[in-house]
Order: sequence, then C-alpha cells, then structure tokens
Amino acid sequence: MRIEAATAFALEDLAVFDTPHLRQVIGNVSGAVPPALVGRAFASDELREPWELAGLAERIERALAPDERAAFARARRGLVPADERASARRAVLERLFWELTYWKTPDEYERLTAGEQVHLGALDVAHVDGAVVLDAGAGSGRVTLPLARRARTVYAMDPAPPLLNLLDRKVARAGLRNVEILRGNFGHVPLPDDSVDAVIACSAFGAHEARGGRRGLDELQRVTRPGGRIVIMWPEDPGWFMRRGFAYAVLPGHITTTFPSMEEARAVAERFYGEAALRHLDATRRPELPFHVLGVKPPRDLCWLTVRK
Ligand SMILES: C[S@@+](CC[C@H](N)C(=O)[O-])C[C@H]1O[C@@H](n2cnc3c(N)ncnc32)[C@H](O)[C@@H]1O
Repeated sequence: MRIEAATAFALEDLAVFDTPHLRQVIGNVSGAVPPALVGRAFASDELREPWELAGLAERIERALAPDERAAFARARRGLVPADERASARRAVLERLFWELTYWKTPDEYERLTAGEQVHLGALDVAHVDGAVVLDAGAGSGRVTLPLARRARTVYAMDPAPPLLNLLDRKVARAGLRNVEILRGNFGHVPLPDDSVDAVIACSAFGAHEARGGRRGLDELQRVTRPGGRIVIMWPEDPGWFMRRGFAYAVLPGHITTTFPSMEEARAVAERFYGEAALRHLDATRRPELPFHVLGVKPPRDLCWLTVRK
C-alpha cells in the first residue's frame, strides 16, 4: 500500500462503522485492533479536542463489549503524551485501512478489483455448475458475478453494506436473478446447516479470528452439506489451511492486472500499489501491472476441502 493510511483517512472516519462493525473490528481477538490502542488514539487533546471526536469516542465506548469497553475507556481517559497519541492514531488508521476503504471509499475498492482479476479456475474446483453456493466475504462481487452465471443460487455475504450496495447494483445491471445478498460474517453466517453445496471465499478468509479463524471455519463447515466443498481463493497463509486438511494448488496460466485506461491504472497504483507500480506504468505506457511488480503472488492459488460430517 503506497499512501499512508494516516493521509488517506482520519480518525473521524471511524464514524462510518455501525455498532456491530465497531465491535467486530475493535476487540481482543487476533486480527482486530486492540481496544487500548484505539483508546490511546482517542485520548483527550486537553480542551482542543473537536467535539465530533469526543462524540465518536463515546459511541465507540458504548458499542464495545464490557471487557473491551473498560480497556478502551481506561486508555482514553489516561494521560497520553501527544507523540504517543499521534503514533496510536497512525497505527489505528494503518490497521483499519482496508476496512475504511470498504466502508468509506467502496468505489476505490471497486476500481482496484475491476483491474485486479483473479483466476476463476477455482469455480471448477468448487463444482459450482447448477449448485447453491455461498460467496463468503463477497465484497463488491469480483467472484459473485461470474459465479452467478454458472450456479443455481448464490448467497453473497459480507459485513460491509457499502460494498453490498455496489454489488446489488452490479447484479441488477447484469440482469442476474439468482443472487441473494446477505449481511453477515464468518463468525455468524445467516444460513441454516447443510444449506449450500459449496463455499467460495476470495481474498477474504484468513487465520486470524477477525478474518474467520478456527471458529469461522467451523461456521463454513456447518452451512456446507456433506460432500460439498469449501474453496479459499488466493489464501494469505496456505499452510494454516493445509494443517486443517485442505489441499493446495496453484492453477496454471498467466494472470495480470489490466485497467481500462492509463488514468485508471495510475489512480489505483497511487492509492494502493506504490512507487514501483507507477514506475512500471511510466516505462511501459500500458495500463497493465504484473503481480511480480506489485510484490504480491498472483491470484491463482487456492486451498480446498471436501466437507465430511
Ligand atoms: C479483499 S476483500 C475481497 C472481496 C471479494 N471476495 C473480492 O475478491 O473482491 C475482503 C472482504 O472480506 C470482507 N470481510 C472482512 N472481514 C470479514 C469477516 N470477518 N467475515 C466476512 N467477511 C469479511 C470485507 O468486508 C471485504 O469485502
């Protein structure tokens, strides 16, 4: 990520999250932002604190579960030197960069994923043709739309309403009638037991509890019928899944990011990819960015599990 989160977003932007989401992203579980760190970021700036920030701090405090609320309140009301408060603010914004992107600037995320294609061979591995499939952590639908063209029914689940609204509009524009949009998260999938033939999660599910973890995996297994498959596309930590019985594969074929214009490519590179990507665009004068330039593995690997009960 090129731009510093602290320059892309401000602490006030946390106001964009609703109560359930504040409770999801601030907490003591792995992958969430510790309440004490957020408390230090919101520590009072003597009398100069803008009232909006005080109001937001009160709202966060009310949103948190009791233990977390206590840790947040203690840190917020403690004496926090200005440099420590500034570094806590930077750390909070850095850790919430993607969540703030999804909730505050969903169009920027859509721009990124419009160019950043993922390998759809994973749909074959998931046996999606004519099936009922959950796209878990669907976002704005990078996988949902191609999936809906093959599956019987797609449940597109995500915790971020701004991305789901974008997805809803895209589904309507494409004339697809077999997509049901659900607000939910890996810890609580709003579907009954054994209700889907397959689950696909692309660049969404991970080992940390806030990104699914052990509990999220149990939940994905609960909703998948026996013999159905869970497919994790572009996993960050394939080893975590393999230790839990998943197979791992890298699909063949070349895959790159391709944007509709140089202008789009530059805008995305400036916001998300960094200097090397900008230099590559300037050198090639083509709106394409190979993943090796981005320093990211290409999105064509996957982990999958056949569910046994
Ligand atoms: C990198 S985006 C990927 C979105 C989409 N699958 C794609 O490939 O474009 C990660 C998505 O995971 C969602 N997400 C984050 N934490 C989640 C959780 N605990 N449960 C379900 N989805 C989550 C985010 O809201 C976001 O839409």
